[in-house]
Amino acid sequence: MSGIEGKVVAITGASSGIGEATALILAARGAKLVLGARRKDRLEALAARIAEEGGQVVCLSIDVKRREDLAALVGLACEAFGKIDVLINNAGIGPISLLDELRVEDWEEMIDVNIKGPLYGIAAALPVFRRQGFGHFINTLSTAGLIVKPTMAVYAGTKNAMRTIAEGLRQEAGADLRVTNISPGFIQTNFADSMTNLEIKANMQNQMSGMAITPDAIGRAIAFAIEQPGDVDINEIVVRPTVQA
Ligand SMILES: NC(=O)c1ccc[n+]([C@@H]2O[C@H](COP(=O)([O-])OP(=O)(O)OC[C@H]3O[C@@H](n4cnc5c(N)ncnc54)[C@H](OP(=O)(O)O)[C@@H]3O)[C@@H](O)[C@H]2O)c1
Repeated sequence: MSGIEGKVVAITGASSGIGEATALILAARGAKLVLGARRKDRLEALAARIAEEGGQVVCLSIDVKRREDLAALVGLACEAFGKIDVLINNAGIGPISLLDELRVEDWEEMIDVNIKGPLYGIAAALPVFRRQGFGHFINTLSTAGLIVKPTMAVYAGTKNAMRTIAEGLRQEAGADLRVTNISPGFIQTNFADSMTNLEIKANMQNQMSGMAITPDAIGRAIAFAIEQPGDVDINEIVVRPTVQA
Protein backbone atom coordinates (compact mmCIF):
# COMPACT_ATOMS: atom_id res chain seq x y z
CA MET A 1 0.00 0.00 0.00
CA SER A 2 1.45 3.38 -0.90
CA GLY A 3 0.37 7.00 -0.85
CA ILE A 4 -1.44 8.94 1.85
CA GLU A 5 -5.03 8.87 0.59
CA GLY A 6 -7.22 6.86 2.95
CA LYS A 7 -4.51 6.18 5.52
CA VAL A 8 -5.56 6.54 9.15
CA VAL A 9 -2.99 8.66 11.00
CA ALA A 10 -3.02 9.32 14.75
CA ILE A 11 -0.93 12.27 15.94
CA THR A 12 -0.03 13.12 19.52
CA GLY A 13 0.68 16.79 20.23
CA ALA A 14 -1.69 17.78 17.43
CA SER A 15 -3.00 20.91 19.16
CA SER A 16 -0.17 23.19 18.00
CA GLY A 17 3.12 23.53 16.16
CA ILE A 18 4.49 20.55 14.26
CA GLY A 19 1.56 18.25 15.08
CA GLU A 20 -1.02 20.78 13.92
CA ALA A 21 0.87 21.59 10.70
CA THR A 22 1.33 17.89 9.96
CA ALA A 23 -2.38 17.23 10.48
CA LEU A 24 -3.30 19.94 7.98
CA ILE A 25 -0.84 18.66 5.35
CA LEU A 26 -1.91 15.03 5.72
CA ALA A 27 -5.62 15.93 5.70
CA ALA A 28 -5.14 17.90 2.48
CA ARG A 29 -3.61 14.75 0.98
CA GLY A 30 -6.54 12.54 1.96
CA ALA A 31 -5.47 11.02 5.27
CA LYS A 32 -8.06 10.32 7.98
CA LEU A 33 -6.87 12.04 11.12
CA VAL A 34 -7.04 11.09 14.79
CA LEU A 35 -5.82 14.06 16.81
CA GLY A 36 -4.61 13.90 20.42
CA ALA A 37 -3.31 16.46 22.93
CA ARG A 38 -4.47 17.92 26.25
CA ARG A 39 -6.06 21.16 25.00
CA LYS A 40 -9.47 20.03 23.81
CA ASP A 41 -10.55 23.46 22.55
CA ARG A 42 -7.60 23.72 20.18
CA LEU A 43 -8.06 20.14 18.97
CA GLU A 44 -11.75 20.74 18.29
CA ALA A 45 -11.01 23.96 16.40
CA LEU A 46 -8.43 22.14 14.25
CA ALA A 47 -10.79 19.21 13.65
CA ALA A 48 -13.56 21.64 12.62
CA ARG A 49 -11.19 23.37 10.18
CA ILE A 50 -10.17 20.02 8.62
CA ALA A 51 -13.79 18.83 8.43
CA GLU A 52 -14.89 22.09 6.79
CA GLU A 53 -12.35 21.44 4.05
CA GLY A 54 -13.84 17.97 3.51
CA GLY A 55 -11.40 15.97 5.65
CA GLN A 56 -12.28 13.06 7.90
CA VAL A 57 -11.14 13.66 11.46
CA VAL A 58 -11.79 12.79 15.08
CA CYS A 59 -10.04 14.09 18.18
CA LEU A 60 -9.52 13.15 21.80
CA SER A 61 -8.13 14.98 24.80
CA ILE A 62 -5.19 12.89 25.99
CA ASP A 63 -2.23 13.24 28.33
CA VAL A 64 0.66 11.14 26.99
CA LYS A 65 1.81 10.58 30.57
CA ARG A 66 -1.16 8.23 30.95
CA ARG A 67 -0.85 4.84 29.25
CA GLU A 68 -4.62 4.45 29.05
CA ASP A 69 -4.92 7.69 27.08
CA LEU A 70 -2.71 6.31 24.30
CA ALA A 71 -4.75 3.13 24.29
CA ALA A 72 -7.87 5.28 23.95
CA LEU A 73 -6.38 7.25 21.03
CA VAL A 74 -5.48 4.07 19.12
CA GLY A 75 -8.88 2.61 20.06
CA LEU A 76 -10.62 5.70 18.69
CA ALA A 77 -8.78 5.33 15.36
CA CYS A 78 -9.96 1.73 15.01
CA GLU A 79 -13.50 2.55 16.13
CA ALA A 80 -13.90 5.57 13.86
CA PHE A 81 -12.02 4.35 10.78
CA GLY A 82 -11.57 0.57 11.22
CA LYS A 83 -7.75 0.59 11.32
CA ILE A 84 -4.67 2.64 12.15
CA ASP A 85 -1.91 3.00 9.54
CA VAL A 86 0.38 5.47 11.29
CA LEU A 87 1.04 6.63 14.85
CA ILE A 88 3.02 9.87 15.05
CA ASN A 89 4.58 10.13 18.51
CA ASN A 90 5.02 13.88 18.35
CA ALA A 91 3.99 15.35 21.74
CA GLY A 92 7.03 16.65 23.55
CA ILE A 93 8.32 19.31 25.91
CA GLY A 94 11.68 20.98 26.46
CA PRO A 95 12.11 22.73 29.82
CA ILE A 96 15.88 22.86 29.30
CA SER A 97 18.48 24.11 31.78
CA LEU A 98 22.04 23.56 32.95
CA LEU A 99 22.42 20.37 34.99
CA ASP A 100 23.91 22.53 37.81
CA GLU A 101 20.47 24.09 38.32
CA LEU A 102 19.16 20.71 39.51
CA ARG A 103 15.71 21.24 38.05
CA VAL A 104 14.95 17.61 38.76
CA GLU A 105 11.19 18.01 38.35
CA ASP A 106 11.77 19.27 34.79
CA TRP A 107 14.04 16.29 34.10
CA GLU A 108 11.31 13.96 35.31
CA GLU A 109 8.65 15.73 33.25
CA MET A 110 10.76 15.43 30.08
CA ILE A 111 11.36 11.74 30.73
CA ASP A 112 7.63 11.18 31.30
CA VAL A 113 6.41 13.09 28.23
CA ASN A 114 9.26 12.53 25.75
CA ILE A 115 10.16 8.89 26.53
CA LYS A 116 7.32 7.26 28.41
CA GLY A 117 4.70 8.96 26.23
CA PRO A 118 6.02 7.47 22.96
CA LEU A 119 6.54 4.12 24.72
CA TYR A 120 2.88 4.13 25.74
CA GLY A 121 2.10 4.89 22.10
CA ILE A 122 4.13 1.86 21.04
CA ALA A 123 2.39 -0.27 23.68
CA ALA A 124 -1.01 0.82 22.35
CA ALA A 125 -0.35 0.54 18.61
CA LEU A 126 2.11 -2.37 18.30
CA PRO A 127 -0.41 -5.16 19.02
CA VAL A 128 -2.89 -3.55 16.62
CA PHE A 129 -0.22 -3.19 13.92
CA ARG A 130 0.70 -6.88 14.44
CA ARG A 131 -2.94 -7.98 14.07
CA GLN A 132 -3.43 -5.84 10.98
CA GLY A 133 -0.14 -6.92 9.39
CA PHE A 134 0.84 -3.29 8.70
CA GLY A 135 1.66 -0.13 10.59
CA HIS A 136 4.07 2.80 10.74
CA PHE A 137 5.57 4.48 13.81
CA ILE A 138 6.88 8.03 13.34
CA ASN A 139 8.72 9.70 16.22
CA THR A 140 9.50 13.41 16.44
CA LEU A 141 13.02 13.56 17.87
CA SER A 142 15.39 16.56 17.63
CA THR A 143 18.70 17.80 16.25
CA ALA A 144 19.38 18.55 19.94
CA GLY A 145 20.25 14.85 20.13
CA LEU A 146 22.69 15.08 17.20
CA ILE A 147 24.76 18.02 18.48
CA VAL A 148 24.38 18.18 22.26
CA LYS A 149 24.71 21.80 23.44
CA PRO A 150 24.86 23.08 27.05
CA THR A 151 21.38 23.17 28.73
CA MET A 152 20.18 20.41 26.41
CA ALA A 153 21.58 17.34 28.21
CA VAL A 154 18.35 15.87 29.56
CA TYR A 155 16.16 16.97 26.64
CA ALA A 156 18.68 15.55 24.14
CA GLY A 157 18.93 12.45 26.30
CA THR A 158 15.18 11.86 26.06
CA LYS A 159 15.26 12.26 22.28
CA ASN A 160 18.27 9.95 21.94
CA ALA A 161 16.64 7.40 24.24
CA MET A 162 13.77 7.34 21.75
CA ARG A 163 16.27 7.10 18.88
CA THR A 164 17.66 3.95 20.51
CA ILE A 165 14.25 2.50 21.34
CA ALA A 166 13.06 3.18 17.80
CA GLU A 167 16.07 1.37 16.34
CA GLY A 168 15.35 -1.59 18.63
CA LEU A 169 11.73 -1.48 17.51
CA ARG A 170 12.83 -1.40 13.86
CA GLN A 171 15.07 -4.42 14.43
CA GLU A 172 12.20 -6.34 16.02
CA ALA A 173 9.49 -5.06 13.70
CA GLY A 174 10.06 -7.45 10.80
CA ALA A 175 8.98 -6.95 7.23
CA ASP A 176 5.51 -5.54 7.86
CA LEU A 177 6.06 -2.51 10.09
CA ARG A 178 7.89 0.74 9.39
CA VAL A 179 9.72 3.01 11.83
CA THR A 180 10.69 6.61 11.04
CA ASN A 181 12.51 9.13 13.23
CA ILE A 182 12.36 12.77 12.26
CA SER A 183 14.77 15.25 13.86
CA PRO A 184 13.77 18.88 13.46
CA GLY A 185 16.12 21.80 14.02
CA PHE A 186 14.73 25.21 15.00
CA ILE A 187 11.03 25.27 14.11
CA GLN A 188 8.70 28.24 14.74
CA THR A 189 6.24 26.80 17.29
CA ASN A 190 5.16 27.30 20.91
CA PHE A 191 7.89 24.90 22.00
CA ALA A 192 9.61 27.47 24.26
CA ASP A 193 6.40 27.82 26.31
CA SER A 194 7.37 24.74 28.34
CA MET A 195 10.69 26.29 29.43
CA THR A 196 10.86 27.14 33.12
CA ASN A 197 14.16 29.05 33.14
CA LEU A 198 13.00 32.45 31.88
CA GLU A 199 16.43 33.57 30.69
CA ILE A 200 16.88 30.41 28.62
CA LYS A 201 13.31 30.73 27.39
CA ALA A 202 13.87 34.33 26.18
CA ASN A 203 17.14 33.30 24.53
CA MET A 204 15.42 30.38 22.79
CA GLN A 205 12.55 32.60 21.59
CA ASN A 206 15.12 35.06 20.29
CA GLN A 207 17.00 32.33 18.39
CA MET A 208 13.70 31.01 17.03
CA SER A 209 12.60 34.39 15.72
CA GLY A 210 16.02 34.75 14.05
CA MET A 211 16.26 31.45 12.24
CA ALA A 212 13.34 29.07 12.79
CA ILE A 213 11.47 27.70 9.80
CA THR A 214 7.73 27.04 9.75
CA PRO A 215 6.42 23.68 11.01
CA ASP A 216 5.00 22.67 7.64
CA ALA A 217 8.61 21.81 6.70
CA ILE A 218 8.33 18.90 9.14
CA GLY A 219 4.81 18.05 7.99
CA ARG A 220 6.04 17.72 4.41
CA ALA A 221 8.92 15.46 5.50
CA ILE A 222 6.50 13.27 7.47
CA ALA A 223 4.20 13.08 4.44
CA PHE A 224 7.21 11.95 2.37
CA ALA A 225 7.86 9.06 4.77
CA ILE A 226 4.20 8.03 4.82
CA GLU A 227 3.65 8.17 1.07
CA GLN A 228 6.44 5.71 0.22
CA PRO A 229 5.44 2.24 -0.98
CA GLY A 230 5.09 -0.30 1.85
CA ASP A 231 8.46 -1.93 1.12
CA VAL A 232 10.29 1.41 1.54
CA ASP A 233 11.04 2.39 5.14
CA ILE A 234 12.41 5.91 5.61
CA ASN A 235 14.25 5.49 8.92
CA GLU A 236 15.84 8.87 9.67
CA ILE A 237 15.07 12.40 8.47
CA VAL A 238 16.87 15.53 9.69
CA VAL A 239 15.36 18.91 8.78
CA ARG A 240 17.17 22.10 9.82
CA PRO A 241 16.88 25.72 8.81
CA THR A 242 19.59 26.26 6.21
CA VAL A 243 21.20 28.87 8.48
CA GLN A 244 21.36 26.60 11.54
CA ALA A 245 24.85 25.47 12.56
N1 LIG B 1 10.07 23.59 17.77
C1 LIG B 1 11.28 23.13 17.67
O1 LIG B 1 12.23 23.89 17.39
C2 LIG B 1 11.54 21.65 17.82
C3 LIG B 1 12.80 21.17 17.46
C4 LIG B 1 13.07 19.82 17.59
C5 LIG B 1 12.11 18.96 18.06
N2 LIG B 1 10.89 19.44 18.42
C6 LIG B 1 9.90 18.46 18.91
O2 LIG B 1 8.72 18.61 18.16
C7 LIG B 1 7.63 18.08 18.92
C8 LIG B 1 6.44 19.05 18.81
O3 LIG B 1 6.78 20.27 19.43
P1 LIG B 1 6.45 21.70 18.78
O4 LIG B 1 7.72 22.34 18.40
O5 LIG B 1 5.39 21.57 17.78
O6 LIG B 1 5.94 22.49 20.08
P2 LIG B 1 4.48 22.87 20.61
O7 LIG B 1 3.84 23.80 19.64
O8 LIG B 1 4.68 23.27 22.02
O9 LIG B 1 3.71 21.48 20.54
C9 LIG B 1 3.85 20.50 21.53
C10 LIG B 1 2.62 19.62 21.48
O10 LIG B 1 2.78 18.57 22.46
C11 LIG B 1 1.59 18.52 23.22
N3 LIG B 1 1.86 18.02 24.57
C12 LIG B 1 2.76 18.47 25.46
N4 LIG B 1 2.66 17.76 26.61
C13 LIG B 1 1.69 16.84 26.41
C14 LIG B 1 1.12 15.83 27.21
N5 LIG B 1 1.55 15.61 28.48
N6 LIG B 1 0.13 15.07 26.71
C15 LIG B 1 -0.31 15.28 25.45
N7 LIG B 1 0.19 16.21 24.63
C16 LIG B 1 1.18 16.99 25.12
C17 LIG B 1 1.03 19.93 23.22
O11 LIG B 1 -0.37 19.92 23.38
P3 LIG B 1 -1.18 20.25 24.73
O12 LIG B 1 -0.43 21.33 25.45
O13 LIG B 1 -2.52 20.68 24.21
O14 LIG B 1 -1.22 18.96 25.46
C18 LIG B 1 1.36 20.37 21.80
O15 LIG B 1 0.34 19.95 20.91
C19 LIG B 1 8.15 17.86 20.32
O16 LIG B 1 8.39 16.48 20.51
C20 LIG B 1 9.46 18.62 20.35
O17 LIG B 1 10.37 18.05 21.25
C21 LIG B 1 10.58 20.77 18.31
